[in-house]
Amino acid sequence: MALPSVKIEISKLSKSYETKKGVVRVLDDVSFSVYENEFLVILGPGQCGKTVLLNTIADIEQPDSGSVSFNGDSSVGFVFQRYALFNWKTVIKNVETPLRYRGASAEECTATARKYLDLVGLKDFESAYPAQLSGGMKQRVAIARAYTSGSDTIIMDEPFGALDAQTRYQMEEEVLKLRKTEKATVIFVTNNIEEAIYLGDRILLFSDKPSHIVNEFVPELPRPRNRTSPEFMALRDEITAQMDLSL
Ligand SMILES: Nc1ncnc2c1ncn2[C@@H]1O[C@H](COP(=O)(O)OP(=O)(O)O)[C@@H](O)[C@H]1O
Ligand SMILES: [Mg+2]
Repeated sequence: MALPSVKIEISKLSKSYETKKGVVRVLDDVSFSVYENEFLVILGPGQCGKTVLLNTIADIEQPDSGSVSFNGDSSVGFVFQRYALFNWKTVIKNVETPLRYRGASAEECTATARKYLDLVGLKDFESAYPAQLSGGMKQRVAIARAYTSGSDTIIMDEPFGALDAQTRYQMEEEVLKLRKTEKATVIFVTNNIEEAIYLGDRILLFSDKPSHIVNEFVPELPRPRNRTSPEFMALRDEITAQMDLSL
């Protein structure tokens, strides 16, 4: 079998912040590769530096040292935890915006946005405004927007953290459905072990601050994964034992 090709190489990233209480070291020499078209889950406790890491990969923040290099298209589609929609724009305008910034024609923007709105089940809501949508629907809009942007890397930062358990399960299915039809490298951040195992081709477990990679897991579980199977629960126990959950 051919070796998977590397899409993003993250090399020796370190990052500290000056705070009133002194210097806080957040990322501690973090290195890993992201492979073409994989669904990579970054799993770590709250406040460990996951968002800082993603922002660094997306070039929103600069590391103190280390580098991020992309093989090919370096633009990323971003899905944030708190929706981050334009409240004054309709659903379809929200979804079209990044593609429009890339200089696509109005027709192409609309057609692409409609395709992804349809895929996330929001075909009938293109003229609605974000305030008229539930949390799950808003996050569907954000996901449609990330895919419409045309980036071949999609970064999702705890996208379902604010949703109730039932909606969260539905959204996890939604993300896996998109996986089947859309070619993209996905980096998905969560603090939820079960979500990580349900979704990930590969899971990188991060420690608390200063954050570094504790372990890597490749769940050898057939899809759709069964959250109550003995194999699933055994992996959950294994990861739980290694995750820093101290208060
Ligand atoms: N701009 C900043 N200034 C100071 N501290 C920051 C800044 N951004 C992040 N941090 C600190 O970095 C740590 C990790 O934050 P974050 O990446 O948001 O964690 P999480 O893993 O929950 O996404 C936090 O303790 C936070 O206080
Ligand atoms: Mg975060």
